[in-house]
Amino acid sequence: MKFVILMVVFVAVASRCEGVTSKFRRKREATEDMPFDSDVFSVPDGYNAPQQVHITQGDLNGNAVIVSWVTPTEPGSSTVLYGTTKDKLDKSAKGKHGQYKYYNYTSGFIHHATLKHLKYDTKYYYAVGVGQTVRKFWFKTPPQVGPDVPYTFGLIGDLGQTYDSNRTLSHYESNMDAEAVLFVGDLSYADHYADHDNRRWDSWGRFVERSTAYQPWIWTAGNHELDFAPELGETVPFKPFTNRYHTPYKASNSTAPFWYSIKRGPAYIIVLASYSAYGKYTPQYQWLNEELPKVNRSETPWLIVLMHSPWYNSYNYHYMEGETMRVMFEKWFVQYKVDMVFAGHVHAYERSHRISNTAYNIINEKCTPVPNQDAPVYITIGDGGNIEGLANNMTEPQPSYSAFREASFGHAIFEIKNKTHAYYTWHRNQDGEKVTADSMWFTNRIWLRTDDSSNVV
Ligand SMILES: *[C@@H]1O[C@H](CO)[C@@H](O)[C@H](O)[C@H]1NC(C)=O
Ligand SMILES: *[C@@H]1O[C@H](CO)[C@@H](O)[C@H](O)[C@H]1NC(C)=O
Ligand SMILES: *[C@@H]1O[C@H](CO)[C@@H](O)[C@H](O)[C@H]1NC(C)=O
Ligand SMILES: *[C@@H]1O[C@H](CO)[C@@H](O)[C@H](O)[C@H]1NC(C)=O
Ligand SMILES: *[C@@H]1O[C@H](CO)[C@@H](O)[C@H](O)[C@H]1NC(C)=O
Ligand SMILES: *[C@@H]1O[C@H](CO)[C@@H](O)[C@H](O)[C@H]1NC(C)=O
Ligand SMILES: [Fe+2]
Repeated sequence: MKFVILMVVFVAVASRCEGVTSKFRRKREATEDMPFDSDVFSVPDGYNAPQQVHITQGDLNGNAVIVSWVTPTEPGSSTVLYGTTKDKLDKSAKGKHGQYKYYNYTSGFIHHATLKHLKYDTKYYYAVGVGQTVRKFWFKTPPQVGPDVPYTFGLIGDLGQTYDSNRTLSHYESNMDAEAVLFVGDLSYADHYADHDNRRWDSWGRFVERSTAYQPWIWTAGNHELDFAPELGETVPFKPFTNRYHTPYKASNSTAPFWYSIKRGPAYIIVLASYSAYGKYTPQYQWLNEELPKVNRSETPWLIVLMHSPWYNSYNYHYMEGETMRVMFEKWFVQYKVDMVFAGHVHAYERSHRISNTAYNIINEKCTPVPNQDAPVYITIGDGGNIEGLANNMTEPQPSYSAFREASFGHAIFEIKNKTHAYYTWHRNQDGEKVTADSMWFTNRIWLRTDDSSNVV
């Protein structure tokens, strides 16, 4: 049982129509990238040692894992040895390696191998660097897909590689229950540097390895993954991202790595691409149109959508940038009763009430969000702590759809208890893990009629 300490502001009865703008103000220090010689970026010892090790789900149901890593000096082996006993890695998966050039940067040798036919709910040990410098890690597979298995996700967005990013990651790691990260986009912010200095993609990979090598991070592409720079002769969007981070998009019949879905335990997770076309007739539109009817809420009662650019955002940053996608897809989210939508992009935190804005038809003037129990809760969690700093300028007054907003860095935890209940908490970095700055019980509207979207006080 977790003790939840609630700030005084929450003692005020949360009504559906009044939002809270938290008065909490963090100390205003600069948000700088950690220098290349920082401890978190250290290169592992040994000849051609694998670095930047990361894993993600490798299929639709959670029986496969994609293991990725980089070797700096020569390709070396692309094989992963693995097994369920630490000292007996009796299985192997052969992967492939590649390399890419970006302006005057040449990447290391990037390896990807998919471990298939894994057993559910099982701890696996694995090793990379076979034949040279061997490094060992482990991961746990999810429980079998089904309605009543508990599962806990972490939520991180817009992380970057500043001292604040390191605080966010450390804070997240202190929650021992979280089993996988739903990452809502904007990874390294290498594009902040001249020529998109891709060495910052490498340092980011080394920084997050302490988490990404042990639990899957589910990737969403953000605008900082575009690396579209015609002035450098770089005209293929997402080049570093697609070379370094793979997604299991083919398993959900997607035709591009930027939009896809997975099932993990009791959850169905749909990842959308804010920076790929989504207008009518486009591949992403067609895919989502066919995808939503496939979700079987008896099998996966929780339907979660990830995207980078938020649809509901009341900060004066990226205001209305998500509007065009909202216009295309919001009615489907209401129709299929999506439970929650997580987005990043805005470097702050915000949670909406259950609202929709789908009645407008150009001539009827019905263009204001209204309470709607079929609609998702929209959460902006772009508060990982990157070099661009906090978004602290909010539109005033707080719109009635906005339940809670605060300009602090942090992360969130979504704890699915069973098919009817899930507990969501947001944790600002200034507090300990057990301190909750915002929280909500989600009751599943497919399985329980009585929804409670107010704060738990
Ligand atoms: C790439 O070009 C920049 C200047 O545009 C220079 O500072 C840097 O050293 C070059 N890097 C390599 C690997 O040549
Ligand atoms: C990052 O955080 C870790 C864990 O809290 C700590 O050991 C390390 O020294 C930090 N590094 C930097 C550069 O802040
Ligand atoms: C993908 O498409 C194939 C061929 O139409 C179909 O058999 C399969 O069930 C589809 N997979 C999913 C996850 O929808
Ligand atoms: C939905 O899932 C339930 C539980 O796994 C299963 O019994 C049922 O057959 C599925 N329905 C369809 C249409 O696949
Ligand atoms: C906040 O944003 C608004 C709208 O962009 C702008 O007019 C205002 O000057 C900003 N306030 C501050 C303090 O930056
Ligand atoms: C589901 O979880 C909630 C919250 O922990 C609990 O109150 C409820 O009894 C559980 N339902 C079942 C059927 O176990
Ligand atoms: Fe962004």
